[in-house]
Order: sequence, then structure tokens, then C-alpha cells
Amino acid sequence: MEKTFLMVKPDGVQRNLVGEIVNRFERKGYRLAGAKLMQISDDLAKEHYGEHKERPFFGELVDFITSGPVFAMVWEGENVIATAREMMGKTNPSDAAPGTIRGDFGVTVGKNVIHGSDSPESAEREINLFFETSELVTYTKQD
Ligand code: CMP
Repeated sequence: MEKTFLMVKPDGVQRNLVGEIVNRFERKGYRLAGAKLMQISDDLAKEHYGEHKERPFFGELVDFITSGPVFAMVWEGENVIATAREMMGKTNPSDAAPGTIRGDFGVTVGKNVIHGSDSPESAEREINLFFETSELVTYTKQD
């Protein structure tokens, strides 16, 4: 079953949006395979956002994602990687459609409430970066 990595960013946790966001993916029909509230270290932030290290906003990105707790999750279901991105909306909340998470709750591109893997390769990399296999459940008997 396809899996993706989603993370409520520090602004979303601080604004009590964890329940709202979990609710949207649950109602959609995806299954939660792992979740934890955690503080990201500087090293983990730099590794997670490694592809952006040459960008001018890299320092800001690392500072923000380590500024408070995040809620890291693994969700599974058919086509979950692409569909979760649709449900999140465009990266810049100003461009995100109403009804999407960023469209409904975000204002600025830095504080855009949620992160989600953008491809199968990123999903695998990010899940392994944030979770041990033993932290993920399987639902094989319920399929
Ligand atoms: P995310 O999906 O977590 O992946 C990279 C993040 O970089 C992105 O969401 C944005 O929050 C952030 N980002 C993109 N552009 C900018 C920018 N111009 N200034 C600050 N942050 C940015």
C-alpha cells in the first residue's frame, strides 16, 4: 500500500490544527500508519530540507521548522502521495484554493501549516528519516 510522510509544522501545532488536519485525512479514508509529536533537531532539519540548501530561504526554513514541536505522520492508501498534496493545496497559501489545508489555514509561504512528500522517492526517504520501522503499524488483517 502506498505511504506518504506528512508533518504539521510548528505554526499548525501552535494554532491547535493537529486534530483538524488528522480529521481531514481520516474522513478522506486514508489510514494512519504512524504518528508522533516531536522536536526536530538542527541536523534532522538540514537533512530533511537538503534539496533546498542553496536557496536563500534555507536558514529561515531550518530556523522555523525547529522553532517548536511538529506532528509527524505516515499515512497510507491508494495514490495517497499525490492526493494528500492536492488536499494540502499549493505551497504558497496565497495561491492555495479554498477547501485545501493551506488555502483554509495558511497565510505566508514560510508558515504554510503542513509539509507532505512530493514523490514516491521523497516519501520513502522522509518516512525513513523520521520513523523507525517499529514505530509503524500494519493493517494487513483489515484489508
Ligand atoms: P515545504 O513543502 O515544507 O517544502 C519546502 C518549504 O520551503 C515549503 O514548504 C515552504 O514552506 C518553504 N518555502 C518555499 N519558498 C519560501 C520562501 N520564499 N521563503 C520562505 N520559505 C519558503
